[in-house]
Amino acid sequence: MKETEMNRLAWGKLSKEHFDRFNKDFKNGTKKLNPLVEEQLGDLNGLKVLHLQCNTGADSILLAKLGAQVTAVDFVPDNIKFAKKMAKTNKVNIKFICSDVLILNEILDDSYDMIITFDGVLGWLFDLPKWAKNVYRFLKPQGRLFVHDGHPYYLVFDELLIKEGILNVKYPYFNPDLEVDSTIGGYATEAKEALNYFRSHKVSDIINALADANIFITKFIEFDRCEEGMGGDTKDERGLMYLKHFEGKLPVGYSMWGTRR
Ligand SMILES: C[S@@+](CC[C@H](N)C(=O)[O-])C[C@H]1O[C@@H](n2cnc3c(N)ncnc32)[C@H](O)[C@@H]1O
Repeated sequence: MKETEMNRLAWGKLSKEHFDRFNKDFKNGTKKLNPLVEEQLGDLNGLKVLHLQCNTGADSILLAKLGAQVTAVDFVPDNIKFAKKMAKTNKVNIKFICSDVLILNEILDDSYDMIITFDGVLGWLFDLPKWAKNVYRFLKPQGRLFVHDGHPYYLVFDELLIKEGILNVKYPYFNPDLEVDSTIGGYATEAKEALNYFRSHKVSDIINALADANIFITKFIEFDRCEEGMGGDTKDERGLMYLKHFEGKLPVGYSMWGTRR
């Protein structure tokens, strides 16, 4: 698919900067998991974890430091190259795989206690049923899926006006178009010029894709705040971002837990 290839090239333009930024954060001791994610994941000791859309592996390293045996996947070759380097520096053993997560079943044959994917993930995938089938394929029976991402409802609003307290629906919630953007990134480093495509799926599309793939949704939690760089305009005492005009009023992020039936 042309759009996926464009996205791979676009994300690849950020690999080196992401690596430099995360590497520096590890060296300074400031690289931390999203607290909303960490408090939900709890103890990962001894669990076999598949981390999808791992970027340059910073979060995969943090998951490994929580005791998980991590396999991590991203479709940008340079992300995987830098992820291996960063894992070595941080003295953790992680298996990194370069693959589109939608076709992971073609190159990986294994099963996991938990699949984890978070912070800017599902909108880059254009075939949720295929993603959900891969989730099913790679979970052990009773294995668990954890997703934490931007809330599709929040993503309908004009991103500049919402910071001024104005709710203006810019993107349709139903039948959303594939959005084309000329810049990518900006959550960890400066955004760069690169054509890319994004689709904000409806909540029901995410749930139904998983349900159709025999993943039983066990929990859905909504938050009025998110990881820095993923939205919001004001930082709280834990480093999470919220919308100053809509704190406690609008969902900005969500988490979802599912289990393979
Ligand atoms: C916003 S980042 C994820 C952020 C990550 N949690 C972090 O902290 O760096 C999105 C990632 O998804 C990856 N990605 C996008 N589409 C993909 C696909 N089809 N298969 C695998 N990785 C993909 C990109 O390369 C990028 O690293």
